[in-house]
Amino acid sequence: MSYETILVEQRGAVTLVTLNRPQALNALNGQVLSELLEAMAAFDKDASQGCAVITGSEKAFAAGADIKEMQAQGFADMYGYDFFAGWDAFTRTRKPIIAAVAGYALGGGCELAMMCDFILAADNARFGQPEIKLAVSPGMGGSQRLTRAVGKAKAMEMCLTGRMIDAAEAERAGLVARIVPAAELVEEAVKTAAAIAGMAPLAVLANKEMVNAAYETTLTQGVQFERRLFHALFGTADQKEGMAAFVEKRPGNWTGK
Ligand code: HXC
Repeated sequence: MSYETILVEQRGAVTLVTLNRPQALNALNGQVLSELLEAMAAFDKDASQGCAVITGSEKAFAAGADIKEMQAQGFADMYGYDFFAGWDAFTRTRKPIIAAVAGYALGGGCELAMMCDFILAADNARFGQPEIKLAVSPGMGGSQRLTRAVGKAKAMEMCLTGRMIDAAEAERAGLVARIVPAAELVEEAVKTAAAIAGMAPLAVLANKEMVNAAYETTLTQGVQFERRLFHALFGTADQKEGMAAFVEKRPGNWTGK
């Protein structure tokens, strides 16, 4: 499949997606959304693929939703077409997605990074929700996911002032999993994704699903959900293989069953 606004390549069991609109600092327009949705659906369906990485350029992961595309839209267009609702499908991808962020991740760019399962940041990464400077607000989940990630004080300050935070501040605040040198970002993200893709596939799905449940449930419900999925994994052949491999001091050989 060839796309115009993204590059997709398979590196072993890892799908590497590179946002590719350098002339607009990877601003996310309707075409990027539809191409990304198609690529992620193909990734989810492809049994040879275990984890994805989404990255941008060294200057910009993505500088936001495409302001030029939105500029002339009115309320009827936005509300009538439920603008941005398409991104919900992205978050329903069942296999893990790592955001490898270098440079600017602003507005929709920060929101896309937060829709991924975790963020690896280059040391030059900068995160922000500057929509207020355009007299609007986050619209792809930023006010909600940023608040859950960094807490109310920092999220509120970022949304109300548009202040960007650098990689170090983002790591201190819990927005990113870890920071790597910019030159090593993509290789490190692919290596991390390959490690995930090397795990038993059903366990990967279950681990992602239960961590995400923490956002949607009470503690009691979440703990129970975790326990039930944990129990379910004992119905898999890979659980038998994983525990036998440990006892026999050898690597597991997964069937995905
Ligand atoms: C469309 C964009 C863009 C965007 C940059 N460009 N960001 N086009 N939408 N979000 C375009 C510029 O217009 C310019 O095109 C080219 O990319 C290079 O950008 P420059 O501004 O010249 O680069 P630089 O001076 O290095 O500044 C980088 C920057 C700045 C600080 C990241 O581009 C910037 O502030 N961008 C907007 C950031 C932002 O507000 N994001 C939130 C968007 S709203 P030309 O043709 O002039 O060369 C959003 C909301 C979602 O995401 C939900 C609700 C609306």
